[in-house]
Amino acid sequence: MTPVDRRPVPGPLSTQTEISAEISAEIDQAKHVSTGTTSAQPVLDYPPYRSSLLRHPTKALVQADPEELEQWAPVFGNQDVGPQEADLTIQHRGEPIGERMVVTGRLLDGDGRPVAHQLVEVWQANASGRYIHQRDQHPAPLDPNFTGTGRTLTGPDGTYRFVTIKPGPYPWHNHQNAWRPAHIHFSLFGTDFTQRMITQMYFPGDPLFALDPIFQSITDEAARQQLVATYDHDVTVPEVSTGYRWDIVLSGSARTWTESDGPR
Ligand SMILES: [Fe+2]
Repeated sequence: MTPVDRRPVPGPLSTQTEISAEISAEIDQAKHVSTGTTSAQPVLDYPPYRSSLLRHPTKALVQADPEELEQWAPVFGNQDVGPQEADLTIQHRGEPIGERMVVTGRLLDGDGRPVAHQLVEVWQANASGRYIHQRDQHPAPLDPNFTGTGRTLTGPDGTYRFVTIKPGPYPWHNHQNAWRPAHIHFSLFGTDFTQRMITQMYFPGDPLFALDPIFQSITDEAARQQLVATYDHDVTVPEVSTGYRWDIVLSGSARTWTESDGPR
């Protein structure tokens, strides 16, 4: 059977109404027609996420020899990870603008065991939804006191903890007036560079969830909810910051979605 060509036809950008209708159709297809099940991992051939159709892998990944690769891979950072690198609010002279918050959680394996001493990196937009990146030129202000990157190592019990600013939603060019829900990108390293995994953490109650093709490309509701942090008053700092808790499961049936299998 000839595969159906689902690549977008060049033309004017779709409207949010059209994208939302496609998202609904994809959920219906996943539930009732295709496999009979929804997907806990992102659907790669997912028309509402326009650019993914042109760039998602269509062949199996090339297997690299880890030892040979590490002779050439860059050293990540030129010094040991310092405790101050987990606080994104102290990287400049002044205070960044926005809702100051603690983001903490545990890195767990598929059996619920903590994964200790792992490198966790984060990057995010500022409170206005703007990244410090030359390709992000939308008219929201940069914050001279906020870069939006940090890193830390998990503790013996698998815990990580960042202090940062709540990122804002931002527009992107998937379709007309497309907005991403607020999110923080997470990168997790294992024992070598071939074990990197990337995912995104979201915030509870975001009104953009239903409209976002990236979030919705995971058609399984429970799997999507695993990407949403929980507000936790116990991790707040009185008079200073709010607090969110988000655990990351690396393997097994409860595994957090990662971009090792996904488009972005
Ligand atoms: Fe982002």
